[in-house]
Amino acid sequence: MAKSLMSLAKRHGTPLLIIDHKVIRQKYLQFRKYLPRVGVYYAIKANPLPEIIKTLHALKSGFDVASQEEFEMVMKAVPGSALKKKNDFVYNDIILANTIKPVETLKKMIPYRTLMTFDNIEELKKIKKYCPNAGLIIRLRVPNIGSMVELSSKFGIEPSDAMQLMDAAVGMGMDVEGISFHVGSQCVNIENYMTAFNAAAELLKAARAKVYNVRLVNIGGGFPADYEGADVSFPNFAKKLSKEIDRLFPQEIEIVAEPGRYLVAEAAKLVVKIIGKAYRDGKTYYYINDGVYNTLSGVIFDHCVYHFHSFKKGKTSVSAVVGPTCDALDSVSISENLPDLQIGDLLYVNDIGAYSNASATNFNGFSKAKIVHANN
Ligand SMILES: Cc1ncc(COP(=O)(O)O)c(C=O)c1O
Repeated sequence: MAKSLMSLAKRHGTPLLIIDHKVIRQKYLQFRKYLPRVGVYYAIKANPLPEIIKTLHALKSGFDVASQEEFEMVMKAVPGSALKKKNDFVYNDIILANTIKPVETLKKMIPYRTLMTFDNIEELKKIKKYCPNAGLIIRLRVPNIGSMVELSSKFGIEPSDAMQLMDAAVGMGMDVEGISFHVGSQCVNIENYMTAFNAAAELLKAARAKVYNVRLVNIGGGFPADYEGADVSFPNFAKKLSKEIDRLFPQEIEIVAEPGRYLVAEAAKLVVKIIGKAYRDGKTYYYINDGVYNTLSGVIFDHCVYHFHSFKKGKTSVSAVVGPTCDALDSVSISENLPDLQIGDLLYVNDIGAYSNASATNFNGFSKAKIVHANN
């Protein structure tokens, strides 16, 4: 593996992000194997590259989009969507999963029957006015305890208030077709899912008692990637989820999920070059040609901790790895065990396919990493 990374870096230069589509396919198939009742809508926010959308579409994945731009990225990447089946494709294969949508976006959705989420009355009024043919999914606020990225402070209605909001939607002549939630990203605390499932099941039961037409439960994202050092056994985790899904939701209810990180995180490796070296505060600082404004932006936005590996062997010491920009925030790790390295040497990072290039910038004039695809 080290050899092939080095030769790719030699051929393409650095920083270089290598995306292995074989891993994406394996992850998708693993998800379907252990959660057989759960349809997949890949959350493209994790990594919106068209090549990834194409790979997942070929496996019959749907897509979770957050904006008009993401919606268009999917439509462009998936060839069949532009043909006469367009409306069916949008309804069946895309969920607009941002609870807040600009009026302009809602207007653009009118030609389709788009499924979209909401969690408050003002959004409901907006949807009714600007996109009345939308299919509605009500998003619940659920515990995000221990998740790497917390979402419940900004999204979801308290389960105790949800029926009133549903009543309002039905009163306005709109159909609430689904219930959704998100347990927070990289959720290893299975109790978050269990609590959310129970809240959704209770609301579903109450809604059906009123003969409301709820037919779908969207269990969101959060499924944990198996990062280096993370002790995640997806098969065990998913088997427990699957059992609870079967216990709580009648067979005729469609269950879907919006995994992002789980599908793509482990599919990418980043190779960077050391461009500077200094001795500061008792340790060696390696300045590399990628950083928190580039592919390693997940350090800031995703609260992700990345570790660096050297292609060289030797006695290691605690070192810092920092980015190339003129900003002290651009510090990737203050504690990595690395051998004595020189300017020009390469380092690599594993499991960097999610929330990485998606939030990279050109700050300070440093180019974004080149991306190469393998096995696509
Ligand atoms: C609405 C929604 N769905 C799905 C996802 C994907 O989550 P994850 O990458 O944890 O699977 C997110 C991520 O924040 C989200 O906001």
